[in-house]
Amino acid sequence: RAHDPATIVIFGASGDLTHRKLIPALFVAYMQDLLPEPFRIVGFARRDYDDEIFRDMMEDSIRNFTRLPAAEETIRRFVEHLYYHKGDLSSPDSYAALKDRLAGAAYPENHLFYLSIIPDLFHTTVHNLQKAGMIRDPEEEHWTRVVIEKPFGKDLESAIALNKELLEHLDETQIYRIDHYLGKETVQNILSFRFANAIFEPVFNRSYVDHIQITASETVGMEKGRGGYYDEYGALRDMVTNHLLQLLCLVTMEAPGDLSAESIRNEKVKLLNATKLDIREDITDAVCRGQYAEGVDSDGNKIKGYLQEDRIDPQSDTDSFAALRLSINNWRWAGVPILLRTGKRMARKTTEIAVQFKVPPLQLFQQVECEDDVCDITRIKPNTLIFRIQPDEGIFLKVGTKRPGMRFVVEDVDMDFSYSGKWNQSLPEAYERLLLDTLHGDSTLFTRSDEVAAEWRVVQPILDNLELLKPFAYPPGEWGVKESDELFLGVEGFWRNGRMEKVSGSNV
Ligand code: BG6
Repeated sequence: RAHDPATIVIFGASGDLTHRKLIPALFVAYMQDLLPEPFRIVGFARRDYDDEIFRDMMEDSIRNFTRLPAAEETIRRFVEHLYYHKGDLSSPDSYAALKDRLAGAAYPENHLFYLSIIPDLFHTTVHNLQKAGMIRDPEEEHWTRVVIEKPFGKDLESAIALNKELLEHLDETQIYRIDHYLGKETVQNILSFRFANAIFEPVFNRSYVDHIQITASETVGMEKGRGGYYDEYGALRDMVTNHLLQLLCLVTMEAPGDLSAESIRNEKVKLLNATKLDIREDITDAVCRGQYAEGVDSDGNKIKGYLQEDRIDPQSDTDSFAALRLSINNWRWAGVPILLRTGKRMARKTTEIAVQFKVPPLQLFQQVECEDDVCDITRIKPNTLIFRIQPDEGIFLKVGTKRPGMRFVVEDVDMDFSYSGKWNQSLPEAYERLLLDTLHGDSTLFTRSDEVAAEWRVVQPILDNLELLKPFAYPPGEWGVKESDELFLGVEGFWRNGRMEKVSGSNV
């Protein structure tokens, strides 16, 4: 797809995101001839850099963080498109100077403003851009688009207020709210898998599905410099209210009438509006929060507990782990428990969605579980469809099959599709896709304002009841808070923890 040449201004250009993600992603687009000339990338920040220093730094970022091998000559040609503008986000003069600088004939007139800055400054920046006359009317020939990074608010009220502030200066069609999970190849495949195949959709409902569980576990703790942000937000706001709910939408929403951004986002909003905490007696039925305790890793090195991490309040009750039980109150999903879980310092980095089907009505065969040809009789196993988002990306279906031999026993096996087995290439990074979409003006993979509010509406009852939901301590390197098992009350199954069985020799 072609798009118009554009000037990309990155506010917060000295930050980590610019180094690690944005510039390497733009570089890959450049390598693939997807950035039409003449394009310009202007880094805006307070540091005392100039074009040359900025270019040198970005060269290093490209060498360190680009997923594809990069030829030095290509890097050199790319960085010639990079410029640096020293400025202060809260000073109108800095915007006036930026405007003068961009006015030169050498700069394309379409402007993408990427706000890689703290959310408290979103409004100031957009306001200052408008005051400097840098936000065009959406009807004009040349476009202005603004990209913002989560968090979009801290709760429902602040999210609505932020939307209102942004919409004072911009049209909804000019705002691109990034949820980088939507840019992941495997996440985009959820809709294709569901709606390009006719065989699964008829069984994706309450008659056949026992429950759905979504896990996004991480092994890292507080990464350098993140403590301050994280302690204010925690796992619920950092991961659940965006990434996990987005995964839930994709796996449970109705088929859109077409693939336009509005049709897809309408379906997501409908789904979110039907989603509630699955509270039977009180909120502890539906929510479990945790903080990792101190411990040692497999090499015997000491690991700090959450409360000992840098820039974390030692009395903090922010969650580094959160598990939720939700219900979707619509015709398709009523009564199907939805379990979500995410946390830092867990046993493995993995993101997956498991749709577990109901067991057959009659156990005709003995079900066995075997290791080294030693088999134990177990309960009947359900079919499970697993969308593995990362790592070892793929889709797996667990089915019962007769084990070869004289006995009539059934063992669980996997039908698997893995990306690496089928396509011998590295998958595009989320930001590569998302940045190109902003240049194309395609907002399908970005969150609309009412969608953001609908996400917050799901978790707001938790934020209102944090006093009743004190975090439990959990050991680092394991699967989070053991009390979160109680969310499975009355459900056929448990968290798919270490029981991730083997699929074709890989450790799934
Ligand atoms: C970010 C969160 O949005 O997602 C981080 O702020 C988290 O805390 C990260 O580590 C996880 O992303 P990924 O792509 O590594 O699963």
